[in-house]
Amino acid sequence: MSTTTVTPVEAVRLVDPYPYYARLVATRPFAHDSALGAWVAADAAAVRAVLGSGALRVRPVAEPVPAGIVGTPAGEVFGDLVRMTDGAVTARLKAVVSEALVGCDTARAGELAARFTREVLARGGEVSYEELMFAVPARVVAALSGLTDGADVEAARAIGDFVGCIPAGATPEQQRAAATAAARLRELLGPGLDRAADGLLGELVRAADRAGWEELGPLLSNAVGFLSQTYDATAGLVGNTLVALARGASVPEGPEGTAALVREVVRYDAPIQNTRRFAAEPFTHGGLTVEAGEQVLVVLAAANRDPAVNPDPHALTPGRVNPTVFTFGASAHRCPGAQLAGALAAAVVTELRTAGLSTSATPAYRPLANARIPLL
Ligand code: HEM
Repeated sequence: MSTTTVTPVEAVRLVDPYPYYARLVATRPFAHDSALGAWVAADAAAVRAVLGSGALRVRPVAEPVPAGIVGTPAGEVFGDLVRMTDGAVTARLKAVVSEALVGCDTARAGELAARFTREVLARGGEVSYEELMFAVPARVVAALSGLTDGADVEAARAIGDFVGCIPAGATPEQQRAAATAAARLRELLGPGLDRAADGLLGELVRAADRAGWEELGPLLSNAVGFLSQTYDATAGLVGNTLVALARGASVPEGPEGTAALVREVVRYDAPIQNTRRFAAEPFTHGGLTVEAGEQVLVVLAAANRDPAVNPDPHALTPGRVNPTVFTFGASAHRCPGAQLAGALAAAVVTELRTAGLSTSATPAYRPLANARIPLL
């Protein structure tokens, strides 16, 4: 793949997409890309403006739920997610979801992630990085949601099927598997939506009570969302941190050094490289207008390295002071799971370092349009 013809979507899986992103920031900070059929926001100013605009929505107005899953349990869950909806009702639900996640016990999340990592390693044989990157963080979020005794493992597996329906190119088979998974995840998680329960779901119901939010269905969908939001993104953060270490990043071995590295990898090699917006109304930035119906690709990973907001942006500097980071989004849809994600990734990587394990420095990447996940 030549870097002269690459699109910002193909860049996600390059061994080093950053020279390409730097050219976008310097020469095309906000521009229409005809190969992509979308606008591309690449510098910090454009990314901030796009994410902050009410004219730009997370889904196309004409297709709030992907056509292939409408009317299925996967479509019902999708249509309730704060991630996938806009407006006043979503804003109320987002406040509830955020309160539950921000109040989450990240120390316990880290302990569980360390324990599950040690369990995987104790089995011996070839190390399954796939399991460590995807299943372990998902299992922790399942456990924090009240699932134990194998139900955590089942939920971690089912969420892999559910996220298959999210990309625009999902096949009918993936959509069917996602529908089955969504139904099962609702069955598994439903009983945990109890105000007396510990953990994430108890917090969710109590936060809903405080906000006067009464409908249980959307709470249950967003509990499934906790797992789906964890899945690819946290796998990418674990993987990209391991690759940074393999490329020579030098931080002390203990949990603090590793946590500082994880925080900088979030900026330096973002696990979620881009997100999308769809214009419901015209949106103007830098004298250019996105018309209603047009799409914007928001290149979070490019904006993280904009020299206008981060000095020496191409240096990996654990402990960097007050970095500007777009990896978790911004404004109305900003990710409320950032602390949890950092705790999970730091715990998994700390255990792997303690076990003396290391990975390739130049892996291939999964062929995904927005998540940057190495194949280790
Ligand atoms: C490294 C890991 C993670 C990354 C990079 C990440 C990134 C993001 C980004 C970029 C968004 C906003 C998307 C947009 O505006 O288009 C988002 C939203 C969200 N994330 Fe995360 N996330 C991560 C982990 C998590 C975890 C562990 C949870 C919860 C268990 C979580 C929960 C959410 C939720 C609920 C939203 C929807 C917020 C909204 O749309 O208002 N995320 N995340």
